[in-house]
Amino acid sequence: MTLAFVLNGHAVELDISVGDARADVGVGSADDTRSRMPVAPTMRLLDLLREGYGLTGTKEGCGEGECGACAVLIDGVLVNSCLVMVGQLHGFTVTSIEGLPESDPLVASFARCGATQCGICIPGMVLAARALLDRCPEPSLDTVRDALAGNLCRCTGYTRIYAAVLDAAQTAGAPTSRNTK
Ligand code: FES
Ligand code: FES
Repeated sequence: MTLAFVLNGHAVELDISVGDARADVGVGSADDTRSRMPVAPTMRLLDLLREGYGLTGTKEGCGEGECGACAVLIDGVLVNSCLVMVGQLHGFTVTSIEGLPESDPLVASFARCGATQCGICIPGMVLAARALLDRCPEPSLDTVRDALAGNLCRCTGYTRIYAAVLDAAQTAGAPTSRNTK
């Protein structure tokens, strides 16, 4: 059975097999997402991204859906990729942090505001912020806090992260994840 979806603007086709075929997955790359790779439908999206395509911007923290380090956008909605099975992806559009354009104002704002320390949480934070700004271009501080509540950071104390999101919101002409599909 073939499973087809879009990853960071590239069409992906995967051969779904019933066995645990994780060992066969390490043949793809971010630029070669049309490769047909045998994968088990129960493989985690997190593992497909990191091990299959080398998209290591997506991090594993808790592995249990609690920290947001593995967050990606699926059809523009923030989802923890450690909780998504590859077999669920047919017909969807997945955006990992590598799919966010460099020109996205969040990139400059996180740097300008000094919002990053160790960086483990930042890909998920940025995608959570992108999902927020796509649906709410001018959020309040409370709205930003609520939107990022599922993304944990052990380093920054959050203040500069919230400031970066508000800073990005003030930047005109922000491209969205939808523009990258
Ligand atoms: S690694 Fe997925 S939510 Fe923590
Ligand atoms: S910057 Fe280290 S966990 Fe957030």
